[in-house]
Order: sequence, then structure tokens, then C-alpha cells
Amino acid sequence: MSNPTIESILNEKRLFQPPAELSAQAEIKSFAEYEALYAKAKADPAAFWAELAERELHWFQKWDTTLDWQPPFAKWFVGGKLNISYNCLDRHLTTWRKNKAALIWEGEPGDSRTLTYAQLHREVCQMANVLKNLGVHKGDRVGIYMPMIPEAAIAMLACARIGAAHSVVFGGFSAEALRDRLVDAEAKLVITADGGFRKDKVVALKEQVDNALANNAAPSVKNVLVVQRTKEPIHMEAGRDRWWHELQAEASADCPAEPMDSEDTLFILYTSGSTGKPKGVVHTTGGYNLYTHMTAKWTFDLKDTDVYWCTADVGWITGHSYIVYGPLSNGATTVMYEGVPRPSNPGCFWDVIEKYGVTIFYTAPTAIRTFIKMGEQHPNARNLSSLRILGTVGEPINPEAWMWYHQVIGKERCPIVDTWWQTETGGFMIAPLASATPTKPGSATRPFPGILADVVDLDGNPAPDNEGGYLVITHPWPSMLRTVYGDADRFRKTYWEHIPPKDGKYLYFAGDGARRDEDGYFWIMGRVDDVISVSGHRLGTMEIESALVSHPAVAEAAVVGCPDELKGEDVFAFVTLEGTYTASDALKDELKKHVVGEIGAIARPGEIRFADALPKTRSGKIMRRLLRTLASGAEISGDTSTLEDRTVLDALREER
Ligand code: PRX
Repeated sequence: MSNPTIESILNEKRLFQPPAELSAQAEIKSFAEYEALYAKAKADPAAFWAELAERELHWFQKWDTTLDWQPPFAKWFVGGKLNISYNCLDRHLTTWRKNKAALIWEGEPGDSRTLTYAQLHREVCQMANVLKNLGVHKGDRVGIYMPMIPEAAIAMLACARIGAAHSVVFGGFSAEALRDRLVDAEAKLVITADGGFRKDKVVALKEQVDNALANNAAPSVKNVLVVQRTKEPIHMEAGRDRWWHELQAEASADCPAEPMDSEDTLFILYTSGSTGKPKGVVHTTGGYNLYTHMTAKWTFDLKDTDVYWCTADVGWITGHSYIVYGPLSNGATTVMYEGVPRPSNPGCFWDVIEKYGVTIFYTAPTAIRTFIKMGEQHPNARNLSSLRILGTVGEPINPEAWMWYHQVIGKERCPIVDTWWQTETGGFMIAPLASATPTKPGSATRPFPGILADVVDLDGNPAPDNEGGYLVITHPWPSMLRTVYGDADRFRKTYWEHIPPKDGKYLYFAGDGARRDEDGYFWIMGRVDDVISVSGHRLGTMEIESALVSHPAVAEAAVVGCPDELKGEDVFAFVTLEGTYTASDALKDELKKHVVGEIGAIARPGEIRFADALPKTRSGKIMRRLLRTLASGAEISGDTSTLEDRTVLDALREER
């Protein structure tokens, strides 16, 4: 098994048609229909989205202007009023869906729970009242730091219901990382749990919250709401900390959804970039609701009879858009799973599919590679015949893993939708429609209707077919990020200035390299900036470098990604030490632990290499290209003439 190589991708010629019986019953029945829809949307994107917004969502008040585009700032459905929690819950209660399973939760160890739309609505209304009673108002921010339990979705929907923006922080992040995010978002309240179960261990979430808030380090936070999950003993700070179940039991279940302005902030989600601290990506209500609704519906051919399961964590955008908002807005049954694949339970995913009759399964290439390694005897021992559509997200999928997914899990009957998108895009940008788009292993295929994508050079000139370039989006779309929280300048610089406007048209710079083939299919080649993807988790190399340098032993650090069979990429750190420290394995371990403490276990360096000096240009810039090559174990080739001191490179090579 290998990671995607240019050769394997360039030689990939296989084409898989959607199964005829699947297309026959779908809303979009053929590639010709997709192309017609695409052409219609391209001719007038605003009119296309307006028609769908009217047809698919409930509005308390209709908008006046569909799109107000003052580059790079977009507003969609200006003047419109709606509430996404209403669209995800209330409107289904007047239909037969009232008693349909909205959320099926499979917990660890062995717990499970199903909430119908009526039950979920009730819990969300109660929680919304709890938040109000604790002084949370429309426009406030609420931090959510939770395990994968139904209360995480309830908390998000309750915030949305009263118009408070949520900021979910992945439960694997450290107290330090949590604090940074709470401070930046000026969160008024944090919702957490006493702990969670992860990989056969108990994770002490509340303790991390206590550490994050210690010494009044996040002064905006007035209260902490704690779900009782593990029942491990925890500290409850008098006057600050409250139990979820106690307040929930007392709260009224009557809480009408607040009519929100279409452009009111729905949530802030922090993500890594190539510079500085993580950015708070801001998503607003109307455009995000419509776009996640439409992409979930058409990409997955989502039906009322589906049991849909996305294995992501709600701490990431995938969990926001495709566990919670997209599926629920469609009235679907969405499965939420607390576990992760691990050697002690190599069949866990397949058990969930068999137990609930999952029909649509959406996961990440890193998980697929893990399963390949665990062996096909595990899926083969389960009944997976309920499956009809498979999906993948987060990193390029190598054709070998794609074929395994297709054959072993999909039994050659299930289309695979490889969805390219980002925290910033809110929803799928380039992805097949399961019922309509022929697929090629390793390609995310074509843009979603209404999405105008291109591959260009740094001047914005379109790249010829099959030549690599930078992936850009050339027209605003409803769920695009509106800004970086509190830093509009960074928003402009990060996404809109790398490639200057071309013929007056602004180009959204995605940060990914891509190639478009002669059929107009996109092949994502990976990040072109200093962002790496470890097991599909997005990390900024700068953040890890800052974490390393904050240790007293470290003088200088350079972090690069190196290829890893399972994780796709791993963190490889080059470190020079302060004078009084000497290199040792014990110090390596200490530094790894230090990074875990600063950021979280997902950022733990796979390898640390000590060096006397780092290779730099004459102007003092670290030559990452050389370090990446060294980290991958390959020989340095190409131009090294800008290197200030060649002996540095020789020394690093010898260290291997
Ligand atoms: O590099 C691309 C990669 O993940 C990045 C976005 O990361 P994040 O904001 O954490 O969102 C991940 C889930 C949407 C992208 O810039 N990426 C995401 N999906 C794919 C992908 N790379 C290749 N193929 C994909 N399907």
C-alpha cells in the first residue's frame, strides 16, 4: 500500500458508472442531468440558489437580495430571516417524521440511544432555555468541548436556536489549545462532560476545562455546563459549574426558535493555517443552512429511508455539516458513534453498519487504510448488504485504498463519493453526485452545481489540462466563510491575495494544488502551504514549531510533514537545542509530550531529529523543501545554491 503517487494517479484510467437502479430512483438521474443543472447554475448562480432556498428551507421572512458581493465579502439572502434549528427540527414535527429516528447514537462501552425528531426537539428546546437562564443571549459565543455523545449535537442546536454562536473545540485538543480558542472567541459559557471514552481510555475533559480556565485565564467564561458521562469524580467549581442533567430536568420545553438574520453568525470553528495561531472561521446562518442541505441531499442521494452515518467527530467541520446540520435539515436519520477504530475492536465500524442497517457510510482515507491493515476478514464477517453509497473526505485517497473500499466494503455495488472541501467552504465543493457522476479512483470529480472552480497559476491564468496548478473558486457560494473571527485583514490576506484578482474577478485561494484532466475531473494534489494532514486532521507546522520552541531546551524548530502509510502524513520535527541541553531519547520523549500538552495528541511528532543547525537561505529562511525531502528519506536533488551553509545539510543527512 502506498500514498497517492503522481504516477499512480496519472495512470488512473478506470471509470465507474453509478449503478443504474440507483440512478433510476434518484432526483438527479444521469450525468447529462448533472451537466444541465451545472450549466444552469453557472449561467446565474444567484438565481439558482434563490430557487433552491425558496423550495428547500423554511423562512420566517423572505430575503430582499440574494447575493451582495463586495469582494472579498459576501452576503447571501440579505434581509431573510430563518433559524437552522427550526429547519433541522420543528418543520419535521408537522410531518410523519415526528416519530422518525433523528439521531441514533452508538456509545462506548456498549451504550446506545435513539432520539426521534420530537425527542430531539424537546431536548434542544430545554437546553436552549437552560442557556438563556444562564444569561446566554443572541450574539454571545458558547464553547463546546465534548465527547461524541448526543448532548454535543443538542448543545449545537440549542445555541443555534437562541442565536448564540457555538465554537466547538475537538475533545482531543489540550487545555492550552482550548483556552486559546475560548479566549479568542470570548466565549461566555463552556459546555463539556465529566469525561469521554476514547480508544479504551477515559479522557478527563472537565479537568482540561478546569486547566484552561485556571487563574482566570479565559475571563469571558462565566459558567461551565457539565454532562455526566463517565461518572468519574470531578471538581465542580461553586458558582461556576453546573450539571447539565439537573438544569435540563428543570427547564421548560417551550422555546420558539429565534428568527435569525440570514447573515447572523451561526458558528466559529478554529482551523490551522500556514501562519500564526489557528483562525476562527466564521459561518453564517442562511447560506450555510442551504448549502449543507443541498450538498447532503444531492451528493449522497439522501432519502427518507436512509440510515446515514458519518464517522467524523463533531469537533471538525465534517461533523458540523454532515453529522448535524445537513442530514437533520433534510429530515434524515443520522448515526453518531463515540468509538474509533482500534486494534482491540477491529470490527467496530462494521458492527455499527450491521446493527443499524446503515445505507450511506462516510469516512476518511486514514480510517480506510487502517482497516486495510487490520484485514478484510473483519468486514467480511459482517452483513454489509444495507450499504448503498460510500463517501470519503479529508485527504487525497490513493487509488489502491479506493479500490479496496469499492470491492471489500461496497461489494462493487456502491458508488464512492470522494468529497473535496474545507472548514472554510462549509460544504462539499468538488464531489460526485452518487446517482449521476461516473467516478475515477482518486479523483473528487466535478464541482457541485453552483460552484465555479478552476486550476490556475500564481497570476490567475488557467492551467492547461493535466498540468498542475492552484485550486481556486471563482464565484462566491452560499456557505463560504465570511471572515476570520476578529481579523478581517487576515481573511483577506489568507484567501484572496495569494492570487491577485484576475480581470476584476476575485479568486478564492484554497491552499491546495490540483490538476484538471481532459474530462474536467479534478485531482487534488495536497496542500501547497505549510499545512499538513495527519490522519485527516489539519495541522499548521508553525503551531507545532511554536509549541516546541516554548520548551526551554529548544532553540529553534522546523516541522514538516513526512509520508506515513496509515496517517497519510506524520509530523517530523527538526530541533536545535539551547547550549546547556544535550540531545537524548529522553529529551525527545519529553518534547513529544510537551507538544501534546500544548496542542493535543493529534500533533505529537512521529519523529524528532536533533541538529546543530537548520538549513537556511542567505536571507535566513528555513529551507523546508530540503527538510521535507530529508524527512521522507529521499536524496536531496535540485538546486541548493541558495543554501547559506552546505555543511548543515551534510550534518543533517548523517543524522539519519
Ligand atoms: O487539503 C485538503 C484536504 O483537507 C483540507 C481541508 O481540511 P479541513 O478544513 O480540516 O477540512 C477537512 C474536511 C472537509 C483541504 O484543503 N482535503 C479535504 N478533503 C479532501 C482533501 N484532499 C483531497 N481529497 C479530499 N477529498
